[in-house]
Parts: sequence; C-alpha cells; structure tokens
Amino acid sequence: MGFWTVAVQCGLAFIFLTLRVDGDVTYSVLEEMNRGSVIGNIAKDLGLDLGRLSTRKARVDSEESNVQYCGLNLNTGDLIVQERIDREGLCGKKAMCVIKQELVLENPLELHRIHIRVLDINDNSPQFKEESLKIEIRESADKDARFLLGEAHDGDIGENAVQSYSLQQNDHFSLNVNTKAGGRKYCELVLDKELDREDKNEMTLLLSAFDGGSPQKSGTVVIHVTVLDANDNAPAFGQSVYKATLPENSPVETLIITLSATDPDDGINSEITFGFDHVSHENSDAFSLHPKTGEVRVAGTIDYERVTSYEMQISAKDGLGLVSYATLIIEVTDENDNAPIIHLKTMNNPIPENIPPGTEVGIINVQDRDSENNRQVRCSLQQGVPFKLVPSIKNYYSLVSTGQLDREVVSDYNITITATDEGSPPLSSSKSVQLSVADINDNPPVFEEESYSAYVSENNKAGSTLCSVAARDPDWRQNGTVIYSLLAGEVNGAPVSSYVSVNGDTGVIHAVRSFDYEQLRSFKVQVMARDNGSPPLSSNVTVSVFISDVNDNAPQILYPAPEGNSFMTELVPKAAHGGSLVSKVIAVDADSGQNAWLSYQIVKSTDPGLFTIGVHSGEIRTQRDISESDSMKQNLIVSVKDNGQPSLSATCSMYLLISDNLAEVPELKDISYDEKNSKLTSYLIIALVSVSTFFLTFIIIILGVRFCRRRKPRLLFDGAVAIPSAYLPPNYADVDGTGTLRSTYNYDAYLTTGSRTSDFKFVSSYNDNTLPADQTLRKSPSDFADVFGDGDSSEVGTKLTML
Ligand SMILES: *[C@@H]1O[C@H](CO)[C@@H](O)[C@H](O)[C@H]1NC(C)=O
Ligand SMILES: *[C@@H]1O[C@H](CO)[C@@H](O)[C@H](O)[C@H]1NC(C)=O
Ligand SMILES: *[C@@H]1O[C@H](CO)[C@@H](O)[C@H](O)[C@H]1NC(C)=O
Repeated sequence: MGFWTVAVQCGLAFIFLTLRVDGDVTYSVLEEMNRGSVIGNIAKDLGLDLGRLSTRKARVDSEESNVQYCGLNLNTGDLIVQERIDREGLCGKKAMCVIKQELVLENPLELHRIHIRVLDINDNSPQFKEESLKIEIRESADKDARFLLGEAHDGDIGENAVQSYSLQQNDHFSLNVNTKAGGRKYCELVLDKELDREDKNEMTLLLSAFDGGSPQKSGTVVIHVTVLDANDNAPAFGQSVYKATLPENSPVETLIITLSATDPDDGINSEITFGFDHVSHENSDAFSLHPKTGEVRVAGTIDYERVTSYEMQISAKDGLGLVSYATLIIEVTDENDNAPIIHLKTMNNPIPENIPPGTEVGIINVQDRDSENNRQVRCSLQQGVPFKLVPSIKNYYSLVSTGQLDREVVSDYNITITATDEGSPPLSSSKSVQLSVADINDNPPVFEEESYSAYVSENNKAGSTLCSVAARDPDWRQNGTVIYSLLAGEVNGAPVSSYVSVNGDTGVIHAVRSFDYEQLRSFKVQVMARDNGSPPLSSNVTVSVFISDVNDNAPQILYPAPEGNSFMTELVPKAAHGGSLVSKVIAVDADSGQNAWLSYQIVKSTDPGLFTIGVHSGEIRTQRDISESDSMKQNLIVSVKDNGQPSLSATCSMYLLISDNLAEVPELKDISYDEKNSKLTSYLIIALVSVSTFFLTFIIIILGVRFCRRRKPRLLFDGAVAIPSAYLPPNYADVDGTGTLRSTYNYDAYLTTGSRTSDFKFVSSYNDNTLPADQTLRKSPSDFADVFGDGDSSEVGTKLTML
C-alpha cells in the first residue's frame, strides 16, 4: 500500500493532489471507480483556463496503451473515469500500479503527463484453486503428521491479500499456517488424534482463508479426507464360544453351525479365512469347515457312543495374517442306534428235572450302549415255558424256573430272551438258549397191562413160550432200561422158578417143565420189572398161567372091575319086567370137560334084544320081560368112550345071571373065571359093600347135619341105584347120577388125598343163582377131621357137588 490512502465510499472520491512543478500531475484513484467518477480537477491543478479548454481542444491521450481510462470534462476541467480501472488486471501483484495518461492541449500545444496511481480496494476474495480437496490419509498415520494443503489466492494485494486461514472445528486435525519466503501463507493439516478408518473412514473439513481487507473477504474449500485402511483389526468372532448340538449318525454334509467373524478392516485386510486350529487327530476328519463361509458340516461318522462332545479351537485369519480364536463345542445327542446285547453269564445246562420251582438256572446280563432312556432295557421270555426272568442288580437278570420240570414230558426248552430298550422307536434283540433237562430216575417201569394171563395146553414142551410181559419206563438210558425177573414164590410147594422162567431183557415167559392139567390147573407168578437206575425203581405184575386140558386120559371103568380082578356077576330076577334096571357101568375119566364126557355102548351081547344101556348113564336095563326061554347066562361087552378129539375108550364085560336065587346057579363055577379067588372075592365084596354102605350113610348124616345148620343147602348124592359107592374114585371129575355132564364148567373142590389144606368152593351154576359166586370157605384140616377122622380123610377123596 502506498503512502496515500484513499478511501472510497459510495462513489465519493477523496483525491490528494501533489503539486509538481514540471507540469506533471499525479492522481491516486481507487480501482473500480464508476465511470464518470471525478479523479481530480486537472484544469485547476494545472492552472488552466477553463474557458479555453474547449477551444484548445484539451483531451486525454493514453501514453502507452491504447486504452483511454480517463476523460476530461471540458466544462469543469474534471478528470473523470472513462474506462473501468482494475488494478489486478493492470498490475497484478505489483505493489505500485500507475496508469500513465497525457493531457494534450493545442494552441499552443501543451502536453502534461498525468500519473494515475491505481489504489487497491478489497474487491477479491481469497480463492482456492479447487473447489474441493481430496486427501487420503492412512489410518496408521502417526500423531503430528502433517499434510500440505496448498494455499488460497487473492487477487488483492497487501492487506487485502490472504491474511489468515481457519479450519472448521473437528476431532482429529488442527491447522498450521506457515509463511513462505515472500510472505505467502500456506497451511498444513496436523494430525492431532490418530485416525481410525473403522470409526470414520471419511471426513469433510472446511478450510477458510481470510484476507485482511475491510470488509474482510474469505474463501473456503472443502477437504475430503479419506482414511485409508491399515490392517489394524484382527477378525472378531461373533461369539467367543460357539455351541451346537448334533444328533449322532447325522449324514455327511449336514450343516451344524455357521461361524461368523467380522473384520472392520477393508479389502484384503478384511478377507477372513476360517480354519480349525487345534484339532486332535481323532476329531480331524469328523467335521469340515468351509474357509470362506464358516459353515461347519459333518464330514465323518458321528457316534455318540464313541465321542459325546467335541471341543475345537477355531481361528479366523484375515488377509494379512491377523488371527483370532474361538472355541467350538459340538455336543452330540444320543440316538437309539444300539440294540441291547444279551450276555449269558452263567447257565446251568442241563438242569436236573427234579429242581424245585424257583431255582435259579442262569444269569443274564443285558447291555445297551446308548444312554438315558435309550439304554433302559426290559427283558422278557416267550410264553409257555416254565421259566421267568427275575430282575437282579442293575442289568442282571436271573433265569428262574417257575414250575416242576419233567424230562419225560419236555426234555428240551428253547428259551428266547428278548430285550427291548425304551428308545423311540425301540430296538430289541433276542437270544435263544437251548436248555436240556437232565434225567432223574423218577419213573418206575409200568407194565402195559394190569395183569397177564397165559393159556397153555398140558403136556407142553419144556422151554415153550407162555406169554410175554412188557413194561415201559420213560426215563433216560439206564434209568429207563427195564429188566424183568421172577419174584420168589412157591407153586405147589416147589419154587416158582421150577415152573417158569422169564427172559430178563425181553420179558418172555417160558415154561420150565411140562404141565399136567390133572395135577395143576393154574398158578400165578409175580414178575418184577426193575430199571437200572440208582436206586432202582420197580413194579410188580401178576401173571396167571392157566393150563388147559388135553384128552390124555382114557376112560377108566370102575365097575364092573376089569376082567380077572373080581367076581362080577349081576343077578337078574326071573320075574323082571321090561325096563327094569339091572346094573350100571361106572366109569370115570381123569380129563375134564368134553374129554371126560363119557358115553356107553353095548358092543356085544349074548342076546342083543334083551338089554340096553343108557348112553350117558351107563344103566343096563331089560328091554322086555324075561322069559323062560332066555338063556340063564348073559354076557355083555360095554365100551366106554370119552368125547375128546380124538376120543379114547375102554371096554368091560358084564356077566348077568337070570336067576332068583344065587344058590340055584349050579354053573356058577362056570361063570367065575377063577375058582379059587371067587369065594374070597365074594366075601370081600360083601364085606366091602357093607362097610362102604355104612360109611356113606355116616357121611351123609354128618354132612347133612352140618350143612343144614348153614344155609341148608341140600347135599345130594346122586345115584338112584344102589351102587357100590366104595368104587367112587378119589380125585375124579364129576359125572352126575343121571349120566349127563353138567353144562357148566365148574371148578370143583376136592378133598385131595395127601393134601393138608383144602378149599371148599361154592360153585355157581347157571341154574342156581341163590348162592353167591366164588364164595370161598377156607377150611382148615381140623374141620374135616371132625367129619372124617384123620385117617379116613387122608385115604378117601369124595366128590361133593353142591346144587
Ligand atoms: C430255537 O428257537 C430259535 C428261534 O426261534 C430257532 O432258530 C431254533 O431253530 C430253535 N431251536 C430248536 C432246537 O428248536
Ligand atoms: C439217572 O438218574 C440219576 C438220578 O436218579 C441221575 O443222577 C443220572 O444222571 C441219570 N442217568 C442218566 C443217564 O440220565
Ligand atoms: C414187588 O415185590 C417185591 C417182593 O415182594 C417187593 O419187595 C417190592 O416192594 C414190590 N414192588 C412193588 C412196587 O410193589
């Protein structure tokens, strides 16, 4: 600024005049005055005559340039502004700006130099080159770092040029203004507080420049600060611990969890790569982690029974290698994927059949590798076996029998144990146990029949088979092996073994001797069946052997005695009429039944028309009246035949004498065969007949009395004809008096010669039901001693038939 200070206010100019003697005039004028503004009165200043100005053609000429800034008011002599005067345009930054003009007068030519000093006014604002500034600052920049901002320009000079700067209030920067050589001012941004791109990645600052004019003018520029990233942030996981649950057996590629980490940095500094950090070898192939997406997926088999939870360190790394860590915990949840397993701990096999119910026969353990409900196991047995499972400690069960076992009914049990867990769906498994029942000798042999009967004809061969017995024993092996044997006993006073023998293995009973029906009609033996157990069990059975008759005895003729034995002549009265009973042939047969059914026949006679014989009675009767002409001596040959097959027979001769008086018979000698014996014989006969008659009468009386006391059975003695009863043989089959065989087959009672015990048996017949059947009176020998006397009873057997 110059020495002269010009203040221009509202177009009013204050002009200071400097007097020059040389005729030059200098004015100071403020730039940018309006056209027509008066710079000064040059006429006055130069002492020119106003009136003459126009005549002298006064005018202003420009000296150098052809721009004529000033003009002259010829009337007033004022120098006025004719063209816009812009100091900055004329002189720029020059401190002194002078416009040279000339005042030219003619007549006389007069030249005055006019110096117009153009004074600056503050008509320019400070101005920045750009409207906005972009600055990039790395966030890692240190405190106090400086960033050049450049400067603002102001066309004005001096005080009106840029005097100061100011920065809008902000958190990070302050302004430092420096003055260059030459006085120009520039400014720098100073980092007062470190930047954080992640906090604020851009800032807009307003920088103002002020000049010193009055009024002051300013210019602003917007500074865009872009904070550049530095990798100053490690990635951060969303959680420090990630927890996930995963059902076991999840298929490969199942998504478990997605990890997330953030890195506020930018670009590669925020590119996060996930990875497993510390993973034990066994877990390494179970999961996969996608490095970019952070998805954790199943990569292998997940087995709760092997690993129930996984804990892994995971890392997140950004592009330039900052790492942070988190923990991933994967809890595996149980699935019911293991069936229970049944272990047989102990098993008593085989089990004896005699164990009492409730005996423990085995111990079972059940295991399930799952957990919680999935490992709760229930055990059961199938129905219908005499066993049950009793829960014991923990997963142990006792297999206990519930009933009595019987090997002979069920010898093997197929026991199926089923174990089911309580998972959903439940799993189950089963196991079969083969239980054998061991034998105990608890069954005696049992005969197939309650008793056995054997029928054998007499005269059998020794060694012949009578019958066989069989007993069953359901026990096992030797406990069920049956051995037969005879029990000791007697038959007819002889050991039973002398009659029969039994095959120990087969039970076949053999006769040891030949039997004689006439001696022994039946007997009983006891056979024992015994098993081979220890101790052995046995049972007994009775075998009745019945001997049947064979026609092995020929009829035996008792009367008349066989020829030569006695004097046998019957007297027939001369006056006998036709049909009179003359005599009777008495014969017996030791056999029985048909074999003893005798029939009589006259095979030869002196006079065939005179006598007949009853076919079954043996009675000889006259057929017609005896006449005088009939021969005195009659001979008959009688044949006696039994009814057996084949039949046996015997013959006898009967001598008949037709006479009223034995003495009349002169030729008696002729008739008798033996002269010497005949007399003796006749005496004997007479004696014998009388003794026998007496004896029989005695017996009849005694027995009659005895039996009349009891139930009054009638004791009959057959024989309408008085026959020599003494000829009744001992021990012979019955032929009743009428000669007919009784139709019933009777077991008859005897008084047996020589026997000390006898049975009287009441025999029932078809035509008499009044007596109880099979009622046996046991008679002691003394009973008979009363009747017969000892001596007689042992000598004579008498046939008694009860009707
Ligand atoms: C026992 O039962 C199982 C299953 O039912 C079967 O496979 C096996 O053949 C049976 N064994 C016998 C001896 O019955
Ligand atoms: C026979 O029974 C006995 C017990 O009475 C027993 O000890 C034995 O083992 C059984 N024998 C067989 C072969 O089963
Ligand atoms: C069989 O008879 C014998 C001999 O009399 C006897 O010891 C045994 O006890 C009997 N057995 C039975 C089962 O009756």
